[in-house]
Parts: sequence; structure tokens; C-alpha cells
Amino acid sequence: MRLVLVGPPGAGKGTQAQFIAEHLSVPKISTGDIFRANVGQGTELGLLAKSYMDRGDLVPDDVTIDMVRNRLAEGDAAEGFLLDGFPRTVPQAQVLDDMLAEAGVKLDVVLELVVENDEVIRRLSGRRTCRTCNHIWHVEFDPPAEEGVCDLDGGELYQRDDDKPETIANRLEVYDKDTAPLVNYYAERGLLVGIDATGPVDDVTVRAIDALRPLQHGDDKRADDDGADKRSD
Ligand code: AP5
Ligand code: MG
Repeated sequence: MRLVLVGPPGAGKGTQAQFIAEHLSVPKISTGDIFRANVGQGTELGLLAKSYMDRGDLVPDDVTIDMVRNRLAEGDAAEGFLLDGFPRTVPQAQVLDDMLAEAGVKLDVVLELVVENDEVIRRLSGRRTCRTCNHIWHVEFDPPAEEGVCDLDGGELYQRDDDKPETIANRLEVYDKDTAPLVNYYAERGLLVGIDATGPVDDVTVRAIDALRPLQHGDDKRADDDGADKRSD
């Protein structure tokens, strides 16, 4: 399956991507994670990306698109993938369509995680991420057994630099201006499935997998499945 996750910062894309990608046996490709890895390694790409990420602005399309093109060319993405954080502009979506068409394949579904702004602010301000495995935790909503330590591999948990209140506010504005139009872009193409992404993490995972199940069986119920389609526009 070729799947895109879309939703505002803090909607739970990274959290759900971990479980959905495992469930579908496809690689999870997160542009934010790739940028953060480059920042950590001090690469040229990392230095460039950091200046945008620290403000909560988008990294320019040409840089991001080249990076994704290279990642999608790797062998593990040949049979399917889950994209988290890309595309996030209409031009990025158009290039993705072209890239996939060149390879003779297309997207199967775009899963929108629907959450209100005050909830995403609560989520982002308590987020902690594992430095080694990137697993995402929350100090209150999804805490590890021991504060500051990842349950999965004992790695150190850190708070992202862009989870400061002023940066969060800008990221939400950038989402509304540049990324929200993607929802209509994909709805018009019949690819959009929206789920309610509030409530416990496990419940959201169940909703996501239920929404994807008809597609896995080739039985496309996107338009009329009232349990899955909760898009709020
Ligand atoms: P990116 O890393 O993609 O950040 P984002 O889109 O702002 O989204 P987040 O990662 O903040 O949120 P999420 O939806 O993944 O939520 P999470 O699962 O962590 O991008 C970072 C930056 O990189 C961008 O600002 C930009 O500069 C650049 N960039 C990346 N891609 C780009 C692109 N394509 N083009 C240009 N620039 C790009 O969850 C958040 C918290 O909530 C966690 O603590 C989690 O534990 C908690 N949580 C999750 N689900 C629940 C739940 N159901 N209930 C309670 N808490 C929950
Ligand atoms: Mg994320």
C-alpha cells in the first residue's frame, strides 16, 4: 500500500505512523525525522533545514523534493510506503504524483488525522522523543515507565526545539496556509479518508486500521463509509 498521512502538527502522524507502517509491513518515511537526523549529524542539508525548522517554517520545496525522491528510490519503498510529513504543499503533492506516475504506480490513500488546535497544543507541549529509536512519548498522555527514558530501548528522551509555544503557533499558521489545501487536493481525487484522531492512542490506531482495511481488500468504501469519514471541513 502507498499511503500518505496528513494532519496538523501534533495530530499524531508520527505516533500512528509507527503502528500503521508496522501493520502494513511498509517503510515509514518521515521527512521531519530525516531532517532531524541530518541536523544531528551536522550535514549541509541539516544546517539548511535547521534554519527553517527552528522558526517553524517549511524547508524549501526543491530541497525537500530531492530528498524524498532519493528516499523513494531505495529498494524497500518499491512495494509500498507510508509518508509522514510529505507532501505538505500542493506543489509537493503534484511532484509526488509525477514521481509515482514515472514509476507506473499511484497513491492508494491519504489518511487525514482530524484534531482541533487546542488539543494539538497540549500534545506538542508534552511531547518527548527517543534520541535513538525516535519513538514518540507524551509526559501525560503516553508516558514511559521511567521519566526521560524510552521503554523500548532505554534511549534518552528529548524535547524538540520546535515545540516552543511561539514556534508551535507559527507551525499551525503554516499548516493552515500551505498544508490544509492538500486536504481538498486529495478529496477531489477521491483519495482522502478522514478519521477522528482524538481519544487514546490505541483507539486512534484501531480507527486508522479499520479505515484502511477496505482498501487492503480492494473493496473501496471511501465515499460511503460513515464510520471512517469524519473530515471536518
Ligand atoms: P514534522 O516533524 O513533520 O512536524 P509536524 O508536521 O509539525 O508534526 P509533528 O511531528 O509535530 O506532529 P505529529 O503529527 O507527528 O504528532 P506526534 O505523533 O509527534 O516537521 C518538522 C519540520 O520539518 C517542519 O516544521 C518543517 O520545517 C520541516 N519539514 C518536514 N517535512 C517537510 C516538508 N514536506 N516540506 C517542508 N518542510 C518540511 O504526536 C504529538 C504528541 O502527541 C506526542 O507527544 C504524542 O505522544 C502525543 N499523542 C499522539 N497521539 C495522541 C493521542 N491520541 N492522545 C494524546 N496524545 C497523543
Ligand atoms: Mg511527526
